[in-house]
Amino acid sequence: MAAPAAGDGRVLAPFGRRRGAVVANEPSGGYRILTAVDEGGPMPAAGQFYMLAAERGWGGDGERPFLPRAFSVAEATGDAAGVRLAFLLEDVGPGTERLAALGEGEGLLLTGPLGRPFAMPDELNPQAAGAILVGGGIGLAPLAIWRRTLAARGVPERSLLGFRDREHRGGLELFRCSEVRLASEDGHAGHRGYVTDLLEGMLAGDSAATAVVYACGPPAMLETVRAICERRGVAAELAMESPMACGYGACFGCAVPLRDGGYMRLCVDGPVVRAADVATALVAGAGHR
Ligand SMILES: Cc1cc2nc3c(=O)[nH]c(=O)nc-3n(C[C@H](O)[C@H](O)[C@H](O)COP(=O)(O)OP(=O)(O)OC[C@H]3O[C@@H](n4cnc5c(N)ncnc54)[C@H](O)[C@@H]3O)c2cc1C
Ligand code: FES
Repeated sequence: MAAPAAGDGRVLAPFGRRRGAVVANEPSGGYRILTAVDEGGPMPAAGQFYMLAAERGWGGDGERPFLPRAFSVAEATGDAAGVRLAFLLEDVGPGTERLAALGEGEGLLLTGPLGRPFAMPDELNPQAAGAILVGGGIGLAPLAIWRRTLAARGVPERSLLGFRDREHRGGLELFRCSEVRLASEDGHAGHRGYVTDLLEGMLAGDSAATAVVYACGPPAMLETVRAICERRGVAAELAMESPMACGYGACFGCAVPLRDGGYMRLCVDGPVVRAADVATALVAGAGHR
């Protein structure tokens, strides 16, 4: 299970696609938590993702879905059987519909772990006193595994999670901590409004000089986080989405504009990016509403 690591902390994926076995697929509010055992794969780092497809009922004869779909790992634990991977899914189309219907024992084809993970707070800000995690909707998935990683390393962290409404809410059990503040657009839980309102309030009460923010969510939310952090001079990383056909740098479908000109391929240079490096988090064709 030992895996090679790239200089940037990435765990490198073995060549080829592996077959994992689904061990659970349970509803979690409006989402589902899909768990599979990856027998031969390495332990992923928080922020990395996998390209997933069902072994059966995926494409063929021109039917959709054809290409695999990208999913952030939300939880990973290792034992003698392999690495147990949990993914938080929102059913938005043919690929997620098929994955959401997978039963215990069925095959899950996976390529990964892929991409650049989150960096520790002191790598982003030498004065860092802790981390503020900001999640929107299904975007809480990579923050759940990151929160546990930070806690295991003794880094103080606070989490702010926002949801549109009850139907677009789930995965809270993946957080397993008390330091979570909620926001909802319809007011069904926590602050009525956006999760970025909570971030503004928290940063106003903190010393910006010691804050580090990690965010994942829909593009409009990420763009607001990016703008808030830029205005306050707070170091931040964003776990972004863009349309990914391959996941490993070959198709250029996932290009995201850089602040200083040019583009990055989000699948290899991200999906976690420094907020100060990107021109905008409003990426066309990406992200759940
Ligand atoms: C790095 C990365 C990590 C991701 N992690 C997760 C995750 O943890 N959980 C999760 O549920 N989804 C995640 N996604 C999004 C997921 O890949 C898409 O929801 C999925 O590809 C949709 O496939 P589909 O066949 O069901 O729907 P499609 O037919 O591909 O699309 C159906 C609808 O979803 C929208 N859509 C298309 N692509 C995306 C996208 N990339 N993100 C959001 N909406 C999209 C379309 O506009 C359309 O309205 C991630 C995407 C990336 C790039
Ligand atoms: S998804 Fe193909 S290059 Fe990034």
